[in-house]
Amino acid sequence: MKVAIIGANGQLGSDLANAFGEKALPLSHAEIEVKDINSCIKALKNVDVVINCAAYVKVDDSEDHPEEAFMVNAIGARNVALVCNEKQMKNIYISTDFVFDGNMNKPYQEDDNPNPINTYGLSKYAGEILTRNLSLPKKYYIIRSSSLYGEKGARGKGGNFVDWMIEKANNNEVIKVVDDIVMSPTYTKDAAEMVKTIIEKELPYGIYHVSNQGYCSWFDFAKKIFDFLDIDAKLFPIKSDELDRKARRPKFSTLESKKLNSFGLRMRNWEDALKDYLRERSGGVK
Ligand SMILES: NC(=O)c1ccc[n+]([C@@H]2O[C@H](COP(=O)([O-])OP(=O)(O)OC[C@H]3O[C@@H](n4cnc5c(N)ncnc54)[C@H](OP(=O)(O)O)[C@@H]3O)[C@@H](O)[C@H]2O)c1
Repeated sequence: MKVAIIGANGQLGSDLANAFGEKALPLSHAEIEVKDINSCIKALKNVDVVINCAAYVKVDDSEDHPEEAFMVNAIGARNVALVCNEKQMKNIYISTDFVFDGNMNKPYQEDDNPNPINTYGLSKYAGEILTRNLSLPKKYYIIRSSSLYGEKGARGKGGNFVDWMIEKANNNEVIKVVDDIVMSPTYTKDAAEMVKTIIEKELPYGIYHVSNQGYCSWFDFAKKIFDFLDIDAKLFPIKSDELDRKARRPKFSTLESKKLNSFGLRMRNWEDALKDYLRERSGGVK
């Protein structure tokens, strides 16, 4: 089995490329432009599976550049789906908890109704719909994850939350983090391993939630990072409306991996995953 990974030098894509090892065909942005179907036709050949990690991930900038967000996240998904369909390849579209509005106040399951509240979420939901409708004969997985952090950091965001927190603490900065937005922080290495498992075990096609289990506010997440590293940071909670951000965020967008659990598969708890990331990153966990 050969697996093309689009966005292979990104945060999740690089861990997917590592997870698949010799089976991987890693494709960087220089090697494929998902906005251009001819580029997709040219790059996606001699593979059985395509994992599309290419995305415009800048949540606030998407409000000012909706065309770009939709071109990459939705039209890109359409192009990949059409090529996969033509060549009978399995199509895996990586999506996000931001397809939900966050108003349910309990973890979202795979069949809960999306209702995005910002342009990024809307463009990713459009990508999901195009993947679902065009990946005939239904050889697709839509895999939603959330609040990713990994060794590479998100290229589109210039890093990840964990590393930013540590950097700010090392610079002795006052750190203010929202305590009214709750999510499931997810280590890309764990997500990549689970994506691989879903494909290799040939689970039924459809939507899967792949996030580390449990949830916390961004403030609690930051606090845990400093607790684990024994750093005495100047950390203070704030409310999200104190931040001048373009895009609204879902308040409670945690994902429940109900379908994975029904197949006896389980993501580990977010705190254990964070501990491992910190250990691998710096070796300095309590
Ligand atoms: N980051 C999160 O917190 C988060 C949460 C939930 C879901 N997700 C989803 O997870 C996936 C991976 O995100 P990530 O955190 O790994 O982001 P990332 O590091 O920014 O990775 C995105 C990759 O896509 C490539 N790319 C961007 N535009 C492209 C285009 N038009 N054609 C081809 N390649 C393109 C980028 O290459 P260049 O940088 O060279 O352009 C980069 O390698 C995305 O689908 C995202 O929506 C992310």
